[in-house]
Amino acid sequence: MSDINELINKEVNNDAEELDRVYKCIEAARAIIADRSQSLGRKLKYHVTTFGCQMNARDSEKLSGVLEAVGYEYEEDEFAADLVLYNTCTVRDNANQKLYGHLGSLGAVKKTRPDMIIGICGCLTQESSARDKILTSYSFVDLVFGTHNVFDFARLLVMVLTREVTKGKGHIVSEIWDDTEMIVEDIPTKRNYKFKSGVNIMFGCNNFCSYCIVPYVRGRERSRNSSDIIDEIKRLASDGVVEVMLLGQNVNSYGRGLDEKITFSELLAQVEAIDGIERIRFMTSHPKDLSDELIDVMASSKKICRHIHLPLQSGSTRILKTMNRVYTKDQYIDLALKIRDRIPDIAITTDIIIGFPGETDSDIEDTIDVIEKVQFDGAFTFIYSKRTGTPAASMPDQVPADVVKINFDKVLAKVQETSTKRAALIEGKVMEVLVEDINRQDSSLVTGRLSNNLNVHFPGGASLIGKIVPVKLTECKGFYYIGESL
Ligand code: 5AD
Ligand code: SF4
Repeated sequence: MSDINELINKEVNNDAEELDRVYKCIEAARAIIADRSQSLGRKLKYHVTTFGCQMNARDSEKLSGVLEAVGYEYEEDEFAADLVLYNTCTVRDNANQKLYGHLGSLGAVKKTRPDMIIGICGCLTQESSARDKILTSYSFVDLVFGTHNVFDFARLLVMVLTREVTKGKGHIVSEIWDDTEMIVEDIPTKRNYKFKSGVNIMFGCNNFCSYCIVPYVRGRERSRNSSDIIDEIKRLASDGVVEVMLLGQNVNSYGRGLDEKITFSELLAQVEAIDGIERIRFMTSHPKDLSDELIDVMASSKKICRHIHLPLQSGSTRILKTMNRVYTKDQYIDLALKIRDRIPDIAITTDIIIGFPGETDSDIEDTIDVIEKVQFDGAFTFIYSKRTGTPAASMPDQVPADVVKINFDKVLAKVQETSTKRAALIEGKVMEVLVEDINRQDSSLVTGRLSNNLNVHFPGGASLIGKIVPVKLTECKGFYYIGESL
């Protein structure tokens, strides 16, 4: 036990020492789990529930990787697992409410199975009022950690596994960092898909859009070194990955703050050169930083998918200003039309917030005007959610819920109109589909994705999963296609 205490409490001074500690903690946890499994006469099981965005999905793959490395087996049913981890989101209040719902149900299960370990991590824990609520109202939780110390999970797990001995039952292990400079590479990872993977290229956000809590919970923007990213993608390619999604809150500003001089477009060109990688996606682009160089690289690329997610948030220049988005309505339209002009088959999708403080009917008309002019291929529409601590939370003229609902329906109807129109344009064509899964409703079909991100369902079997195949797009169903393989 004193060895374990020493390992947990050791000072580490750099990323390499940290990685060394991660692997030592994995060894220590593995020994404890093997012991427990033996006395129970079965394997221990884990479940990770992911809320929110692709960043969280990627973090969950790392957390699952550590859990499997220490000897846990995946369990589909969260209520049947020995260890349950909730990787949370807090971008809108409904994400918080979802977590509390899950916790309520799991708390009841834990009463009958007190040895169950429950952990909470992710964005919500970085927000002090939500964290306090967990620590006080859900005291059956065993572990709380944040977005900056995901790499330290193995150590935290050892602390939880040994805490009956060290601190007594009922003690919550809670470690939240405000920020970090560290980027620890090469943590064990369990990929959700064999053939595609997210790859973090940067962490955090510096934009401080006035409604958004992300910069407060994910910290300042930090880019990974390009050589680490390229090495990771090469390893993924040699392990069967054909599609990578480069992840960052604002990928267009990749490279800022690094010692090396590199732009996002230059990084893309390096990824393009990697053998085995067939498709490259990225998420998310901030319109204010999207360069002509990037449009050129996309236009001439054979691998970068014909899809760009370009959050609009609002079509009103006045609202964009109070949102701190740093572009106007006309600048956004010009940019989107420039992209369409250079890359005619590209799908442009977006995020729109309805009900931002001070929003009037004329602002909504501006948003609808942008949707019509750009002809979005898809949009996520969100009702504005007040996030404590953000500048927008204390702005006057919060919009009444009934007005927001009417405007939301208007915007949604317009987006559905343009996206179905756009989707129908490729009916009858033959296009390449990356097959992702057996169709959930009909097992005689497989489900895959076009380069432009539309889903296609067509007859086929499991042997097609992970392959890129030509498919005739026979019937447009509005947001997806029914196809025929050739
Ligand atoms: N309320 C509603 N939507 C929000 N988003 C971010 N913060 C809020 C908020 N407070 C949306 C933005 C962003 C997406 C990920 O979530 O549209 O692009
Ligand atoms: Fe939030 Fe704006 Fe950063 Fe996106 S760019 S994460 S909306 S602050």
